[in-house]
Amino acid sequence: MDIKVTLNPNPKAKPTDSSALGFGKIFTDHMFRWSWNSEEGWHDPRIVPFERLSIHPASTVLHYGSEIFEGLKAYRRADGKVQLFRPIENIRRMNNSAERLCLPQMPEEDFMQALIEFVRLEQDWTPSDKGTSLYLRPFMFGDDESLGVHAVHNAEFIIIASPVGSYYKEGLNPVKIMIEDQDVRAVRGGTGYAKCGGNYAASNRAGERAEQQGYSQVLWLDGVERKYIEEVGAMNVMFKINGEIVTPKLTGSILPGITRKSCIELLQSEGIEVSERLLSVDELAQAMTDGTLEEAWGCGTAAVISPIGELSQHLYDTVTGIQWGEIEDKFGWTVEV
Ligand code: PLP
Ligand code: COI
Repeated sequence: MDIKVTLNPNPKAKPTDSSALGFGKIFTDHMFRWSWNSEEGWHDPRIVPFERLSIHPASTVLHYGSEIFEGLKAYRRADGKVQLFRPIENIRRMNNSAERLCLPQMPEEDFMQALIEFVRLEQDWTPSDKGTSLYLRPFMFGDDESLGVHAVHNAEFIIIASPVGSYYKEGLNPVKIMIEDQDVRAVRGGTGYAKCGGNYAASNRAGERAEQQGYSQVLWLDGVERKYIEEVGAMNVMFKINGEIVTPKLTGSILPGITRKSCIELLQSEGIEVSERLLSVDELAQAMTDGTLEEAWGCGTAAVISPIGELSQHLYDTVTGIQWGEIEDKFGWTVEV
């Protein structure tokens, strides 16, 4: 694929204080764009100066929520090079999300090329302080200029990038999570396993209520029985109960997290079994009461691994060690840019 590059004639000054980065507030000088329509397919891949988008007021995304996204990071290694962590997993998950929302899928190798060429161009924006990275946000939206409800004939795929520090204001300290018993995020057969904007829009009310009560995010229960633990707003969850490591199994309403998958594979490579099974809130409450809940942590690209207990500290050290290139990547998960 031939990606046309138009350089930004007015590049911005890069942030100097990485402790003030926060999450997703500053954007780099360029973005990748790729257009699709049902006649031509994917066409016109280009890197252009970062700018506002202009879309038609009847554009599908504004009315019917045809939008999907991904989140992955570029990490600065000690040798100065920049690497991506398991980008092929994000590519495949985005194509699965596209399939669910009737948006067009992308050839894996073209998507990978776009990521690599874009990050290569923006790599100087990758901060180098501990815990910082360049967050990449690929997203796609349906852009038909008509109000009929149907699978779209026009779509736009864009990648933007943002230098980031920690996602939670707590940094790497334990976060407070509230179990949500009113709203549900997703149901089986719905869009829970897809990374689409609508899932997050539907979760905001509970998130707001949780924040008002001093919690960072909510822990979702399954939408049918409202009994089984699913995941947190931006993380999958894992628990150590009486020596068993448990994570909710992927029933269709949970996002199949890449950090979750990496934690499971890392633990298994160390001979530690992970049970992917249904876990009821009652079982968790019981374990809390009788003291058998040894640890609880969330894992996600933005959130990394939090909070930190003995095992999650070990996972945090190993996962981030591989991501930032400090620990040898025996799994072949990283891609140098
Ligand atoms: N669950 C939800 C709802 C998320 O938004 C995320 C973040 O992407 C995750 C889980 C964790 O997924 P990953 O590890 O692929 O970032
Ligand atoms: C990520 O971890 O990449 C996410 O997408 C979380 C996000 C909703 C902020």
